[in-house]
Amino acid sequence: MTILAMDQGTTSSRALVFSDDLQVQASAQQEFEQHFPRSGWVEHDADDIWTTSAATARGAIEKAGNPRIDAIGITNQRETVLIWDRKTGKPIYRAIVWQDRRTADLCDRLKDEGHEDAVRSVTGLLLDPYFSATKIAWMLDKVEGARARAEAGELAFGTVDCFLIWKLTGGRSHVTDATNASRTLLYDIRKGDWSDDMCRLFNVPRAILPDVLDSAAEFGTTRADLFGREIPILGVAGDQQAATVGQACFDPGMMKSTYGTGCFALLNTGEQAVTSENRLLTTIAYQLDGKPVYALEGSIFIAGAVVQWLRDGLKLIREAKETQSLSEQADDSQQIIMVPAFTGLGAPHWNPRARGAVFGLTRNTGPAEFARAALESVGFQTRDLWHAMAADWRGTGDAAVLRVDGGMTASEPAMQFLADILGAPVDRPVNTETTAQGAAWLAGFRADLCPGPQEYAKAWRLDRRFEPQMSGTERDRRYSAWQRAVQAVMAV
Ligand code: G3P
Repeated sequence: MTILAMDQGTTSSRALVFSDDLQVQASAQQEFEQHFPRSGWVEHDADDIWTTSAATARGAIEKAGNPRIDAIGITNQRETVLIWDRKTGKPIYRAIVWQDRRTADLCDRLKDEGHEDAVRSVTGLLLDPYFSATKIAWMLDKVEGARARAEAGELAFGTVDCFLIWKLTGGRSHVTDATNASRTLLYDIRKGDWSDDMCRLFNVPRAILPDVLDSAAEFGTTRADLFGREIPILGVAGDQQAATVGQACFDPGMMKSTYGTGCFALLNTGEQAVTSENRLLTTIAYQLDGKPVYALEGSIFIAGAVVQWLRDGLKLIREAKETQSLSEQADDSQQIIMVPAFTGLGAPHWNPRARGAVFGLTRNTGPAEFARAALESVGFQTRDLWHAMAADWRGTGDAAVLRVDGGMTASEPAMQFLADILGAPVDRPVNTETTAQGAAWLAGFRADLCPGPQEYAKAWRLDRRFEPQMSGTERDRRYSAWQRAVQAVMAV
C-alpha cells in the first residue's frame, strides 16, 4: 500500500512516496520562478504551480519503482489566491502569493472603519494583506470583466490545494479543506461554513467559493491519464497544519514551530477556538469527522529567508549550511541585532510597512556577526510568539516543550539559541519530513491504511532535545535588547 504526498510550497513543489507505515520511499522537488512585478508584490505563474506539481508527482512515483498509488494527500502554501474560468480552467491572473502586500491600503481602510473586531470573531484572523480575501477582491476589480463573470458563476476561486484538486480531477471537483478555508478571511471557523457577512465586507461573491470538506475526506479522483489510473485524493491540509499533524501535536497544549521561508508556530487548543488577546491568529489545525480542532498560530514571514538573503543578497555565503560555521566565528563581545522585517512584521506586531534593520554595528562587525545575528533573529521572533501563546493559553507553563521542524532545525547553534532564549526545551524529531508526512497520514487514515491519531503519535521519535543553558539574567537582557530593536523598526 502506497501513498503519494504532494507538497506545493512557496518556492518549490515536492512530491514524496510513502509506504503505509509512513516511511519515505522516494521524493522529487522542483523550484519555480518567483515574480516581483512591483515592490511588495509577489506572484506565481499558475502553470508553474501545476506543471512542477505534476512533474514531481510523476518523478517521485517513477523513482519509487512505479508502485500502485492507493491514495494522495495534498499540502500547500496557504492563503495564495487563484481564480480561473470554470469552463476553460484558464486562470484570469497570476496567483497572488501570501507574501504579497498590495492590499495594505484596503486593510487599513477596513481597520479605520472599525471592522477588525467582527473579522476576528468570525474568522479568527486579523485585517492584514497576508490572507486571501482582499487579494480576491483586488483580482476581481482589476481584471476586466472579472467581477461580472464571478457573479454569474463563471469563475472559481481556490487556494493552491483547491486549484491542484481541480487540475488533478480534470475540473470535476471544486473543493478545499477546513484548514485552508480558515485562512481566507471568508470562513466562519466556529460555524464551519463560508460567512455571508465576510463575503459582503470583502466584496467576494459566494458563487466563486469551493465546498469545504474535512482534512481527511473524498476530494475526488485524479484523471486516469495522469498516473495511468484514477487515484483518490483523500487528505488535504495547509502546510503548517499538515506539519502540526505530522508532529503528532494532537493534544491540547502541544506546540510545533516550522522553519521554512517563514516560521509558523501552532499551539493545539483542542475543541476550543481561543480568541487571542495578543494578536495571534485562531485557526483550524485539522478537521476529522466533521469536528474541527483549533490552534493558536503565530506567523513570522522571514526565518529561513534571512539565510537566503545572506547568500543571494549579501553574498556572504555560497550555501545555506555555511551559516552555522560562519556564525561560530562571531565575536561574542558584539551584540548585533538584526530585525529581518523585509516584508513587514507578522505576529504579534502585524505591521506590513515595517522594514528590516541591523543594530549595534561597529568597525569590527563582519560576515560572522551578520550570520549569528541572522540565526538569532529567528530565535527572538519565536520568543515573541512563545510569550504571546503563553499569555493566551494558560496550559503552557514552564514545562512546555516546542517541537521544531524545517530546514533551519539542522543548525545546532540556532536550535540551542532558540532553547536559550525561550528558556524552554526544544525537541527536534528524527523525521524531518513532517509536513508531507502529515498530508500522507491524513490520506492514509481516510483510506484505512494508517492507524488513528493516538497510535500515529506513538511513532513520533526524538532526535535531540536542546535544553536551555543561558542564565535568566542574560536571557532577559538579550530579549529586552531585541524588543527595543523591534520598537525602533516599528517607529520608522
Ligand atoms: O502561510 C504561508 C505558509 O503556508 C507558507 O509556507 O513553507 O511555503 O513558506 P512555506
